Amino acid sequence: MTGGLPEPGIPAALQEDCALTELFDRNREWASRKTASDPGFFKRLVGQQRPRYFWIGCADSRVPATEIVDLDPGEMFVHRNVANLANPDDPNFQAALQFAVEALEVDHIIVVGHYGCGGVDAAMAGTEPGGAIGLWLAPLRKLYRNTCASHDANRAGRAVSSEELCRRNVSAQVAALAANPVVLAAWSRGAPLMLHGWVYAIGDGLLEAVQPPVDSAQCLPAGKLE
Ligand code: CO
Repeated sequence: MTGGLPEPGIPAALQEDCALTELFDRNREWASRKTASDPGFFKRLVGQQRPRYFWIGCADSRVPATEIVDLDPGEMFVHRNVANLANPDDPNFQAALQFAVEALEVDHIIVVGHYGCGGVDAAMAGTEPGGAIGLWLAPLRKLYRNTCASHDANRAGRAVSSEELCRRNVSAQVAALAANPVVLAAWSRGAPLMLHGWVYAIGDGLLEAVQPPVDSAQCLPAGKLE
């Protein structure tokens, strides 16, 4: 702000908050840099998107989807929620999946978990979280209980770590996708759709795969959903 006069394009109420006006300033500088390096960049994006990837990631602020794979706007369709769940009963997720597969015809769906996930930790906590977060994380708590039970049955003698549950959660979401009607319909019409399960380490900024890619319902053993 200069001289107390409102800046054009920024709501007057926001101009009292320096942190928020900074976001508008940073946006303008970012758009200027993009245009400077590629004058046609934004014009090409108007009215169309042709991303090859659909990213299903955690809402955690430390895992910014397009940034950590160094992609530009227009290159990846993104859905994020607490603990990167691909729950077919969630209409928000299901709508994003349907649009990605049927309208955008993406080639790859990537579930990306991350170590140090607050959602995973909450699912492992002794006390079930209340409210919407408790409802949302119920499938993950069930996965945790089942994982603990299988460890006990195998006499493994060790607790399930947050990292292990994070990886198992990713695999469970890939398995859920492989049974999702939208994905099954795509495969039945011959779409070259592949599912991937990755995990991201906040500590070094690196991604790694937690399982091989899945390109058909036969790739996964039955009953692996939970
Ligand atoms: Co998380």
